Amino acid sequence: MAVPRTAPILVASNRGPVSYTLGEDGSLTARRGGGGLVSGLSAIGPDANAVWVCAALGEGDREAARRAGDSHLNPGDTGGRQVRMLDIAPDVFAAAYNGVANSVLWFVHHLLYQTPVEPVFDAEFAEQWAAYESYNAAFADALAQEAVDEAVVLVQDYHLALVPAMLRERRPDLRIGHFSHTPWAPPDYYRLLPDDVAAGVLRGILGGDRAAFLTERWANAFADCCAAVLGAEIVRDGDSSGDRNRDGHGDGMATAVRFEGRETRLGVHGLGADADFLRERSRRADVDERLSTLRAQIGPGRKSIVRVDRTELSKNIVRGLLAYRRLLETHPEWRERVVHVAFAYPSRQDLAVYRDYTERVRRIADEINEEYGTEGWTPVALHVKDDFARSLAAYRLADVALVNPIRDGMNLVAKEVPVVSERGCALVLSREAGAYAELGEDALVVNPYDVEGTARALHEALRMSDDERADRTKRLAAAATALPPQAWFLAQLGAL
Ligand code: G6P
Repeated sequence: MAVPRTAPILVASNRGPVSYTLGEDGSLTARRGGGGLVSGLSAIGPDANAVWVCAALGEGDREAARRAGDSHLNPGDTGGRQVRMLDIAPDVFAAAYNGVANSVLWFVHHLLYQTPVEPVFDAEFAEQWAAYESYNAAFADALAQEAVDEAVVLVQDYHLALVPAMLRERRPDLRIGHFSHTPWAPPDYYRLLPDDVAAGVLRGILGGDRAAFLTERWANAFADCCAAVLGAEIVRDGDSSGDRNRDGHGDGMATAVRFEGRETRLGVHGLGADADFLRERSRRADVDERLSTLRAQIGPGRKSIVRVDRTELSKNIVRGLLAYRRLLETHPEWRERVVHVAFAYPSRQDLAVYRDYTERVRRIADEINEEYGTEGWTPVALHVKDDFARSLAAYRLADVALVNPIRDGMNLVAKEVPVVSERGCALVLSREAGAYAELGEDALVVNPYDVEGTARALHEALRMSDDERADRTKRLAAAATALPPQAWFLAQLGAL
């Protein structure tokens, strides 16, 4: 049965606002989806007149998608939003999501390969790439079915890079934008990808009217890749004739890419923290309760260095722990006086490298506790079970927040902490996080690979006077909330 064309606004992302677990009795329990993308898109409320198309990620999701058929999910589960969850064959989904999106595109954009031995693009990858194409086609089909004439479609992230071009073929009347929540790789690194894949991803995104990013740096890198891989013409600020030298190092910010007779405009929208939501949510009773538990765990009179991440290779949790160990080694005065509260929540556990990384994080935390711990003091409090209320409690009490990713599209933790912090919190921030562009001035900035430098920054952060910390936190909070999710979403829509 054909789905009626009803939606004037469509959003497409791999992960949707809800995920389901299937009980043994066949019952489905709905939970809010996680990650930066879902936090940003949560601005799409029930009144937005939008349909959100996402993939079924696990068995529970697939069951919910099957029960809904071609219709939308039960609005009771989705906060009243209209959500269509695609039931994609499990092997196709696994190859597209684990194989291509998370093992290859994510690795390329975050510079995660150990290049002497990886990546290896063999026959298995060629099959995974075909699966990625059909997974993208499934989204393009669903969007083409749901959209009214001249609807606006916002396609999200690296999972769906081919959708804009595929959708344009099916529905040339639509206005299509793509938004990248990740960094974008520089051309030399991007070209690790097989040539057809490198070109395919760029052509896919260029099929839209607009491609947007979290910072100028990533937008420029995308333009550089279009020039290097496709020979596309780049339009830069104050230059309407195009960039002739095509070396990717023009002066101004890249504002459009011209390729095969079409022009795709580039944009930057630095997603900010949702101050109203965070302030209200972090004052609820469940957060108060966790705050008391955390305080007791840290112990009276001690300072805390807090980090909150998915257990994600790009987040650089291991070097963060090494820097903390180095701090205890070089500044014995902090022993017994500080606790590193590290939340490393499970992520992408289908991938062996993520499981290994999680193990490594645990091992190093244990080593530090064995090496330095005393009867009344555990130097590292590592928590691996996802608990949003406990994260907010940690934001409230943190003296120092450690955000040291190798590379990160934005990093919302860096923006959330200053908003929720009670007494002011010093931010140690990687210069490779997108958030650095907006928060760099009031943070203690580190090179994420430099463990020694990070240890020094932690020491500086712990020593910062209360007044300075409070002042900086105020400015950080203002910068962090400049473009809250609702405004971020409307800016994308408006620009299309
Ligand atoms: C990042 C990506 C999102 C993704 C999130 C969580 O923020 O940009 O697209 O949803 O990580 O990752 P996951 O694989 O669990 O969806």
